[in-house]
Amino acid sequence: MMHVTLRQLRAFETVARLLSFTRAAEELHITQPAVSKQIRLLQENVGLPLVEQLGKRIFLTEAGRELYATCADWLETWGRFEQTIANLKGVKQGRLRIAAVTTTKYFMPRILGPFCAKYPGIDIALEVVNRDRLLDRLARNQDDIYVMGEPPEDFDIESEPFLDNPLIVLAPANHPMAGRRNIAFSKLAKENFLVRERGSGTRMTVERLFRERKTPLHIKMELGSNEAIKQAVAGGLGLALLSRSSLNLDTNQNELAILDVEGFPVMRAWYVVRPKGKQLSVVAATFLEFLRNHLQLLVRNQ
Ligand code: PGA
Repeated sequence: MMHVTLRQLRAFETVARLLSFTRAAEELHITQPAVSKQIRLLQENVGLPLVEQLGKRIFLTEAGRELYATCADWLETWGRFEQTIANLKGVKQGRLRIAAVTTTKYFMPRILGPFCAKYPGIDIALEVVNRDRLLDRLARNQDDIYVMGEPPEDFDIESEPFLDNPLIVLAPANHPMAGRRNIAFSKLAKENFLVRERGSGTRMTVERLFRERKTPLHIKMELGSNEAIKQAVAGGLGLALLSRSSLNLDTNQNELAILDVEGFPVMRAWYVVRPKGKQLSVVAATFLEFLRNHLQLLVRNQ
């Protein structure tokens, strides 16, 4: 009988899914040597190599692929068991797993803070990832609730809009178009744009908007975060289309201007999403109810 532990399986599942020890360590909030150790122990238990490293790339061996195919189900079953036990012990206790796209980091803490204060027995695991990685987690049913701007059409999901998510055009405060009224969208064709990385929901929306309006989009620079984009806009490197949620109150507001472009702000929404038919844990249902009843905590900061 093998002495495989849940910790080893969790580490392996994460490495196998991300094909990276570094990213697995980030996701699991442990160090990279700790991940390697779990994988080594698991390989010793199984008696066969599970992953192979060729240069910088990680591959699954045949045994690794077999294990990966089954361990996601085990982990899901175990998670449900933990939740059932929490529910039996008392309804407002347990772990809430939320995956949210990066742009929600400006408002999610504002709802999670009061939620945790009201339900101290509930622990939160919040994964903040870009849209592509969130869809990956959704496909693997890794979280209770997903928060995103553009629910996918090709997934069987239930989605509920809960907050406005306007898209705005951001320029440096000293830009010649700052302060002008009703600027034609076609004028944007002459500007350089700073965009998020591929896989970002914001990037997808920006590219779609320009495509729909048959306007060329000149990408000057690709940056991995909204914060980096705002700094680069303030520094005069170009314009950007961002969710207004990313304009929090304390950063370089006076160095930035929101341009009055025709059709903007593009009105969108933030959604809570879950796989269709997924039985919500009591903890997840409690959170959804709290979110619906406390939206004013978020609206005030918009
Ligand atoms: P992003 O997603 O943070 O990956 O850009 C934003 C969105 O889904 O609107």
